[in-house]
Amino acid sequence: MAGLTLRNVGKRYGALSIIQGLNLDIHDGEFLVLVGPSGCGKSTLLRMIAGLEDITDGTISISDKVVNDLPASKRELSMVFQSYALYPHMTVRKNLAFGLQNFKMSKAEVERRVAEAARILQIEPLMDRKPRQLSGGQKQRVAIGRAIVREPKLFLFDEPLSNLDAELRVQMRAELASLYARLGTTMIYVTHDQVEAMTMASRIVVLRSGKIEQVGTPQELYTRPQNLFVAGFIGSPKINMLKAGVLREGASTRVRVEGWPEFAIADLPTTDTQLTLCVRPGALLVGAGTIRTEATVRLVEYLGNETLMHMVLPTGQTVLVSDSGKITYRQGDTVTIGFELEAIHYFDASGQRVEPTGERV
Ligand SMILES: Nc1ncnc2c1ncn2[C@@H]1O[C@H](COP(=O)(O)OP(=O)(O)OP(=O)(O)O)[C@@H](O)[C@H]1O
Ligand SMILES: [Mg+2]
Repeated sequence: MAGLTLRNVGKRYGALSIIQGLNLDIHDGEFLVLVGPSGCGKSTLLRMIAGLEDITDGTISISDKVVNDLPASKRELSMVFQSYALYPHMTVRKNLAFGLQNFKMSKAEVERRVAEAARILQIEPLMDRKPRQLSGGQKQRVAIGRAIVREPKLFLFDEPLSNLDAELRVQMRAELASLYARLGTTMIYVTHDQVEAMTMASRIVVLRSGKIEQVGTPQELYTRPQNLFVAGFIGSPKINMLKAGVLREGASTRVRVEGWPEFAIADLPTTDTQLTLCVRPGALLVGAGTIRTEATVRLVEYLGNETLMHMVLPTGQTVLVSDSGKITYRQGDTVTIGFELEAIHYFDASGQRVEPTGERV
């Protein structure tokens, strides 16, 4: 097992800067999940850690040892890709053993490791098949098996489940989580899937245009997003954003959101007069809440355990309301929706989180 340290890590392709001044400490035994929009540099970062890509600036250390100049094969880590990249002409057994041939390992040791990986991933009955005789989920298990046999100090996963159908994804997600629980090896995992990120991660890193926006536990990111980008990125269905004005009169601070009644809040540590208020769809309440307004139902999406309603405010803005009760509203209905003050996240004009402090007056 190993921890990993990134110090001022940067990557450029010619004049194009992909990753800038990235600092991150990944603890020994941690399950770190990397998320961010397409093209933000997740795969590039993973490949730099793996040694498949040079770094332009900074240092990467594994277990406190700088590995910048260490070739991929000597870094004692294994990477699993989105495409399984199995050798089509080899059996599952050979696919698993193949990567160990460069390690001058005894035949008995190779067999022991292959058998162990097959047992962990429950692919023993498939060992003599070729990849074309396997389902997507089975192929992905073999790809993970190939990573396991190397007994790495660190696993790198680049969207390993994104080619699987929904049901298999859920199953493999649980299998990966139990694999992690058993091995306890440090894992760095890239995904586009909110549920994977929230359920598997010890910590999540939100990356945007090659820079870290926030690092924290799933709960920290969800309950205290540090900026508007993270607020909008973490959480599904997406958080609602409302433009607001701040009025300061004497000791009182009041917030005005167009279409809603004005309300008092504790003081905010900003002099900005324009804010963005965010409220999660589940915190917009139908027929309840301290601060209320009228809204018209535009679309109702019944999902079984929750119903998602697209509502139009008097201002014309659409908000999402998620309700877990038995909703009987229909398109065109006018309802009252509201929120509690505690449910509001405040962001200043530059998009940084600000927390009300002190008493409301
Ligand atoms: N060899 C290369 N030369 C030039 N630009 C590259 C090269 N490889 C990647 N890039 C660029 O680097 C950026 C980051 O790419 P990367 O594959 O790391 O993104 P990503 O976050 O993994 O995206 P996705 O979620 O779509 O997989 C992209 O803008 C991409 O076009
Ligand atoms: Mg990628």
